[in-house]
Amino acid sequence: MAHPIIFDTDPGVDDAQAIAIAMAHPDIELLGMTTTFGNVDITTATHNALLLAELAERQVPVAQGAAAPMVKPRHPAPTHIHGDNGLGNIALPEVQGKADSRSAAQFIVDTVNARPGEVSLVAVGPLGNLAAALQLDPALIEKVKQVIVMGGSIKEGGNVTPVAEANIFNDPHAAQRVLTAGWPLVMVGLDVTHRCVLGPRQMARIEAGQGRLGQVLAGSYAFYRSFYQQMLGIDGCCPHDSCALAWLVRPEMFTTQRGHLNVVTEGLAEGQTLFAPQERDFIESRWSGTPYSEVCLGIEGEAAVEWMTATLVGDA
Ligand code: RIB
Ligand code: CA
Repeated sequence: MAHPIIFDTDPGVDDAQAIAIAMAHPDIELLGMTTTFGNVDITTATHNALLLAELAERQVPVAQGAAAPMVKPRHPAPTHIHGDNGLGNIALPEVQGKADSRSAAQFIVDTVNARPGEVSLVAVGPLGNLAAALQLDPALIEKVKQVIVMGGSIKEGGNVTPVAEANIFNDPHAAQRVLTAGWPLVMVGLDVTHRCVLGPRQMARIEAGQGRLGQVLAGSYAFYRSFYQQMLGIDGCCPHDSCALAWLVRPEMFTTQRGHLNVVTEGLAEGQTLFAPQERDFIESRWSGTPYSEVCLGIEGEAAVEWMTATLVGDA
């Protein structure tokens, strides 16, 4: 079954791998990419999205979006993780194509309205574009098929603060709107992405299986891997953004829980995602006032990484 998606992204090494999967998997119909600041500034994000599509010899519309958070000042891009160019500082070819003339938010609204009930939004960066799309067309909540967010953390703790995951921390006000909007939403956070390790053996297979794109994925991975060796002591990296696509195509690899999400927008815990499970009563009802969402709390990590690798070597 085909899954038509818009991929909202801040590429980014792990974004790049996920984009390659979205282009390669026979059951994913990539309708377009929308870009956001996050791992890189917005111009670099758009450049990289266009480049990755060109390396795969695919015509994929790319619409540029949020350059900064909705409210808080923008933090500098994490160049120590993704490199200055977002792709591990490797030399990159020139980009030929141009971005769509529409904003990311307008592209989302137009694309979803053209196929109501069919399109999934897969968001793997800060959530300003989805928040802006909701502002343009609040009825989107009834017209998207589902929203899959790579971001947040329930039990795992944070990766940029003790409690906050990067995509949510980078724009907590947008995240609060998106995670509590009432559309069918699944959160694929660090609770599952940290259970997946893509090692050098799998990366060698991907490099061999993806032509020019494979060389860029492997070159950027080498830079990203050294960050994970220092930070988490693992030999490989966590393919965060690809996990959102694993949910799209192979949800049976995950265990989830239904409940209410909230995002802390100010103070020491800004960017923290709070989850009140459906079946629990708490001392007050204020944690449970938001619409229901699903959060991923478990994953078959090895199977998920094998799915990613198989997709990128053409065995999906
Ligand atoms: O915390 C992981 C997320 O932050 C991923 O989307 C990664 O690309 C970075 O943006
Ligand atoms: Ca990302």
